[in-house]
Amino acid sequence: MKKTIGIIGAGNIGKTIAAHLLKKGYAVNVSNSKQPDSLKETIVQLGNGATAVTATEAAEADIVILAIPWLQVKTLTNITDWRDKIVIDATNHYISSDFQMADLGNRSSSEIVQEHLPDSRVVKAFNTLNFKLLAADPVQANGHRVLFISGDDNEAKAQVSEMIKGIGFAPVDLGSLSAGKLQQAKGALALQNFIKL
Ligand SMILES: NC(=O)c1ccc[n+]([C@@H]2O[C@H](COP(=O)([O-])OP(=O)(O)OC[C@H]3O[C@@H](n4cnc5c(N)ncnc54)[C@H](OP(=O)(O)O)[C@@H]3O)[C@@H](O)[C@H]2O)c1
Repeated sequence: MKKTIGIIGAGNIGKTIAAHLLKKGYAVNVSNSKQPDSLKETIVQLGNGATAVTATEAAEADIVILAIPWLQVKTLTNITDWRDKIVIDATNHYISSDFQMADLGNRSSSEIVQEHLPDSRVVKAFNTLNFKLLAADPVQANGHRVLFISGDDNEAKAQVSEMIKGIGFAPVDLGSLSAGKLQQAKGALALQNFIKL
């Protein structure tokens, strides 16, 4: 029996990741900023295995994916006890609709996410590709589309890698959360579409 994955954010990126997980037999609990009723159509579109829940309920899963605007992450601090939870940070640190970016100082955007979710185990992933490309078949030209990951907890990265492989992508580990600067918005690997042969 595969793990249930919680997804906070049911927009472009949340639905795209959910679709890949559902195709491979994961159960997915999807949430947005409103009550679950507001996700009726989304659940019909996603099909079997998808359930609409509150963000608090989505955060109860063993692995929780953040697919919300970066500035909203701080609203999640008290919705659950984040201790030891694996959190996949799919956000990019845009702070306006015209793609202005937060001033991060010398930190990576996921290090700030980590600060907002105390004692969780944050792994950055799923943030580098536009959702339309991410939605496409990850098996291409006898290879697998690369998803970069970064994080400070090796066991969490191992579980995220296994999940990423399970849905057909090739995980490539960049190292620490700080190294995640390479994959965050405007980093050298942002928007790069690699196929691992
Ligand atoms: N779009 C892409 O191609 C892409 C690619 C890589 C990474 N990303 C990153 O992924 C994140 C989401 O982008 P998106 O394009 O999917 O955005 P989107 O289509 O606007 O969807 C955002 C979702 O987040 C939900 N949300 C907002 N605030 C929330 C909160 N406080 N609690 C729970 N849910 C909340 C929204 O729910 P409501 O409808 O209730 O407001 C909506 O379901 C962003 O950080 C973005 O930078 C996007």
